[in-house]
Amino acid sequence: MQTIRSIFHLKKIITQLKQKNKTIGFIPTMGDLHEGHCSLMRNSRRENDITILSIFVNPTQFGPKEDFTKYPREEKKDKLLAKKEKVDIIFFPTEEMLYPKDYLTYIETLNISTILCGKNRNNHFKGVTTIVGKLLNLVEPNKIYLGQKDAQQAIIVKQMIKDLNFSVTTKVCPIIREKDGLALSSRNKYLSKKDRLEASILHKALKDTKKEVLAKNIKTSKKAKAKIKSLITKFSSGKIDYIECVNTKNLENITNLNGKILIALAVKFGKARLLDNITINKK
Ligand code: PAF
Repeated sequence: MQTIRSIFHLKKIITQLKQKNKTIGFIPTMGDLHEGHCSLMRNSRRENDITILSIFVNPTQFGPKEDFTKYPREEKKDKLLAKKEKVDIIFFPTEEMLYPKDYLTYIETLNISTILCGKNRNNHFKGVTTIVGKLLNLVEPNKIYLGQKDAQQAIIVKQMIKDLNFSVTTKVCPIIREKDGLALSSRNKYLSKKDRLEASILHKALKDTKKEVLAKNIKTSKKAKAKIKSLITKFSSGKIDYIECVNTKNLENITNLNGKILIALAVKFGKARLLDNITINKK
């Protein structure tokens, strides 16, 4: 595995790979890698000649009161894991490299970036689309790999790729979970023992509600959301940020449960804001 720390070096290698007609799979990350990231790496390895992983804790996607400075930075551990997963190139850009002092340009996907997680996280998705756009220009991959846990992020990135004519296809890989159903996330580390135990209710609530929607032919999102809310409040002290039923492609709100529906939620347990979601295909 090659470790690259400069844009100049990266560009040189990308040019060589392109000359050799190698296909490139790309996994953008903020590090603190876990099984969720490993599944993206494995997908990329299977589907491309070369797998490139970037690690960069992107300051522009954190709000002023968020955990940017505290976000786990585990370079040694991450490198070992990426090597074990046979990543070919690991790219560690620096803040100075990506956002020099005279930096002025941002990418913003309107509307869908200010709902759900974007409602309480001002400019979060603007930071995400900006950094992903920049990394796509640097890495020039054939395929980018994202996780379904951050469903809104994946939909927004896909929209940006389409709108700005990036020549890359997106693969969204399934959520990887702990044994009790909790979706893997770097932020699970922030959970207290009690919250960690309670947090498994998120997936259980989504799963049970999906079952009921299908078995009992529940027709409205209002009912489905109420069921999820009652389970979460009954079995945990988590503070619900949102529970929404939306269109799986454009995140539009859904009131009548018909066709493909994404139920997405965000719940706060202490300092950790956890995300989860489930897709229902209702005929
Ligand atoms: O999902 C993440 O880890 C980040 O939002 C991403 C896509 C790497 C951009 O910084």
